[in-house]
Amino acid sequence: MQITIIGAGNMARGIATRALAGGHTVTLTAKDPAKAARLAEELSAQAAGDAAVRTDDDSAVDTAELVVLAVPFAAAKELTTSLGGRLSGKVLVDISNPVGTSLDALVVAPGTSAAEEIAAVAAPGTKVVKAFNTTFATTLVAGQVGGTPLDVFIAGDDEAAREQVAELVTSGGLHAVDVGSLKHARELEGFQLLHMALQIGEGGYGWASTIKLVAP
Ligand SMILES: NC(=O)c1ccc[n+]([C@@H]2O[C@H](COP(=O)([O-])OP(=O)(O)OC[C@H]3O[C@@H](n4cnc5c(N)ncnc54)[C@H](OP(=O)(O)O)[C@@H]3O)[C@@H](O)[C@H]2O)c1
Repeated sequence: MQITIIGAGNMARGIATRALAGGHTVTLTAKDPAKAARLAEELSAQAAGDAAVRTDDDSAVDTAELVVLAVPFAAAKELTTSLGGRLSGKVLVDISNPVGTSLDALVVAPGTSAAEEIAAVAAPGTKVVKAFNTTFATTLVAGQVGGTPLDVFIAGDDEAAREQVAELVTSGGLHAVDVGSLKHARELEGFQLLHMALQIGEGGYGWASTIKLVAP
């Protein structure tokens, strides 16, 4: 799969690591091209077999099958607006957690979600999917916590788009959990607000835990 990741921070690193493990072609694009180039160089050692990583300007969006917004929520919304019809027909993955700095509240109104706000400004035909918001960046690099593959919860209104994200997830060694329509991003974002609040302070999980469904 041709995957373009917008952003060159912690989550770009984590998702690119899993995508390369799955044999995909990853293009990194960021507002600071030097940061994207440094990350691509670092990750290139992991690009075995058919996998490849490179950098490009935002024209990489045009050749992508799947675009990941690895930027803060406000920037993700702005980028979705400005890219407009160039995202039409593509899978657009929103990974954001729209949380305030004190981790005590979501910055989106009750009854909606960051993913739905992004979908509301996206051009017609853009297939917005929520995924990866409950997986911390360092755990994505490792691919597991305590020897167990991470669960990646996937919400979106287009079934084929959810399946495409599930293919990215499973090929990278993780476990995909399809939760159905995009409105379930509300629960995923609320769940992760709690998960984030549990990381800090004495007795916190130190950004090393993951949310996992366990079945017999
Ligand atoms: N960190 C986690 O464990 C984690 C887990 C789940 C979800 N998330 C979500 O993942 C997203 C990225 O988080 P992160 O931890 O990767 O953050 P990060 O390490 O700070 O990286 C953010 C990236 O976004 C870029 N960026 C910031 N503002 C931008 C703008 N206005 N336009 C274009 N690019 C912009 C940054 O560029 P510069 O560095 O040049 O400013 C950087 O490349 C966030 O939405 C976050 O809620 C994070």
